Amino acid sequence: MTSAPESHVTTSDSVVSVKDVQKHYGALHVLKDINLNVTKGEVVVVLGPSGSGKSTLCRAINRLETIDSGEIRVGGDLLPEEGKALATLRAEVGMVFQSFNLFANKTILENVTLGPLKVRGMKKSEADALALKLLARVGVENQKDKLPSQLSGGQQQRVAIARALAMQPKVMLFDEPTSALDPEMINEVLDTMVGLAKEGMTMIVVTHEMGFARKAADRFVFMADGQIVEEATPEEFFTNAKSERAKDFLSKLITN
Ligand SMILES: Nc1ncnc2c1ncn2[C@@H]1O[C@H](COP(=O)(O)OP(=O)(O)O)[C@@H](O)[C@H]1O
Ligand SMILES: [Mg+2]
Repeated sequence: MTSAPESHVTTSDSVVSVKDVQKHYGALHVLKDINLNVTKGEVVVVLGPSGSGKSTLCRAINRLETIDSGEIRVGGDLLPEEGKALATLRAEVGMVFQSFNLFANKTILENVTLGPLKVRGMKKSEADALALKLLARVGVENQKDKLPSQLSGGQQQRVAIARALAMQPKVMLFDEPTSALDPEMINEVLDTMVGLAKEGMTMIVVTHEMGFARKAADRFVFMADGQIVEEATPEEFFTNAKSERAKDFLSKLITN
């Protein structure tokens, strides 16, 4: 373990704090004593081989998965187990998955206004105005009356980002957001994410897009076998990875 001791400390500008988290799937120990602190405006890229627990960690932060022990806080508040308090807190975490998960029978505009209307209790006129602003920000406002199936994958993923932003989240979580996209659509999504990072959004991003990671990340968190093995700046990680697992991971990135 080479994770920095300061990552265990919860400071007042901590947006996400994960402390001593353990999780098993049956006999499989998928999260082994995870400690991670993400401060306001920070962009943390989570790297690691397939099966290392990256998605499980994201899902635990959003309470889509339970944990066995430990503590997860978002905006200083402990995540509640269930009920309305959970719906409200979950809305503080914007999640963008590999598959876009848009509602197929709702228009693009409706997909974005649904959360603000149902969870935030916003008036329709307000929700529409917010959605149009966000769709413009991700560059798909002219698609607002279409159904998701009428959009390209890259456009759908940008709508998914707008939908998450519509909840005015404290943190955005991206779990391999471009890995289901055709190559020519990857950059339009990454550019949207770089824009968010520049505007100061707090972000946790699981990605294999090293160009993006290098450009946007303040910090890399490298996971292997359910553990955070290493934390470093992008530069440190690429030039001076300490663990064998990280060196092995990097050598595969370069040769593939
Ligand atoms: N719902 C589940 N039930 C049982 N095992 C699971 C489940 N989800 C993930 N796993 C296992 O947990 C480990 C971590 O998975 P995951 O978090 O998806 O890794 P990553 O996102 O880094 O590829 C893997 O061994 C995976 O097979
Ligand atoms: Mg995954």
